[in-house]
Amino acid sequence: MNAPRFPSAGPDFRELVLADRVDRRLYLDPAIFELEMRHIFGRAWLYLAHESQIPREGDYVTAWMGRQPVIVLRHKDGTVQVLHNRCPHRGVMVITEERGNTGNTIRCGYHGWTFRTNGELLLAPLRDAYTGRYDMADHDCFGLARVPRVGSYRGFIFASLAPKDDPLPDLPGFLGGARRCIDLLADRAPDGEVDVSGGVHKYIVRGNWKAQIENLNDNYHAQFSHACTTDENERQFRRRYGDDTGAHMDTREQGSKWDAVDSVGLDWGVSYCGPLPFNHESRGGPLYEAHCAELRKHHSPGRVEQIMTDFFHNLIVYPSVVMQLASSHVRTIRPVAPDRTEIRVYPIRLKGAPEEINRQLVRYLNVTHSAGSLIQSDDVEMFRRVQAGLASEAQEWVWFNRYMADDATRRGGGTSELVMRNQYRSGYLRYMEGVRA
Ligand code: FES
Ligand code: FE2
Repeated sequence: MNAPRFPSAGPDFRELVLADRVDRRLYLDPAIFELEMRHIFGRAWLYLAHESQIPREGDYVTAWMGRQPVIVLRHKDGTVQVLHNRCPHRGVMVITEERGNTGNTIRCGYHGWTFRTNGELLLAPLRDAYTGRYDMADHDCFGLARVPRVGSYRGFIFASLAPKDDPLPDLPGFLGGARRCIDLLADRAPDGEVDVSGGVHKYIVRGNWKAQIENLNDNYHAQFSHACTTDENERQFRRRYGDDTGAHMDTREQGSKWDAVDSVGLDWGVSYCGPLPFNHESRGGPLYEAHCAELRKHHSPGRVEQIMTDFFHNLIVYPSVVMQLASSHVRTIRPVAPDRTEIRVYPIRLKGAPEEINRQLVRYLNVTHSAGSLIQSDDVEMFRRVQAGLASEAQEWVWFNRYMADDATRRGGGTSELVMRNQYRSGYLRYMEGVRA
């Protein structure tokens, strides 16, 4: 009889995640998925919503932190509250809509317990029943539980389930170099604020959450996975206003342009890649000029040029969100099961920009990242095929070993797999340290 590969206590995650490869079980095993929900999604700063979605008192959106439902809402003092979406009485989910306005109270539908928008219990009907025995003002027992850490950067709201004494840094520290990317994105709005309230594309992918997050700074795949989106000259369609044309996919010249794209790994699995080949080509036209003219009302000409020059393509704030500059959007990644992931794509509109620009941003996003789009549908098909192929037990490892030498500087070319290795080493393993599968 063959000896079991792992002792019965289960392997340390360092045996499943090596420097250049990871075990296939990471994409398949329900027990590993549960551990990821607890140790990664139960601790990391997760993107939940943008402040423009909840401008007025009582506005809310509902969201998930791993398996756990939460409410993000605007309290009467203007603060953003993130509360567990669970009635302290018998556990009912108190808000079931995705967004709306709850007024100045939240009422549970089951027995009518009513809460203030900061989670405090306002009244439990027929509360005489508790008099003298229970302190109904005891928030820990009878209020809507608060998520321990909430932060906002340029209106992007993040929260973490890590207790206050956890060594996880505060939000600015966690974002680190990602802040520069978010600043650039927000500064494209002449008013200095973006609007993320313009609707959402939402779909379930038949793949593991890591397949999506590994794809976002992967410039090795584009010329192959997306080959069907190009014309006979290997040119892609135009992706946004002001561009002359779209990317040249370059399938015959083995990666030359795609390798020229920068990729940068930061702490906690965060990363970004530099502008794509098509971003380097000249932009212009009346709309582009009108956008620059609006920006010049607020910034010097030099700063306007800086703002309009792409610095990055995709920013990944591991493990929950990507922000894209060219097809301007926020994309959230919510694991549902080992082989199910919910993707939501929210257009980012630029406040103060000519309205036609915002209309076109939404239109291009429909073309590139909706469920029936030309780009993202190629990717989600690959995530499905990853899941299907990994059912094979013939080989154990999934490889991320292109350009291993890049790891010394945490910078590489576009087709390097350094970003995925960085996700595993500075993100995944850091969260999973000491955990046994
Ligand atoms: Fe909410 Fe009873 S479960 S009031
Ligand atoms: Fe892709």
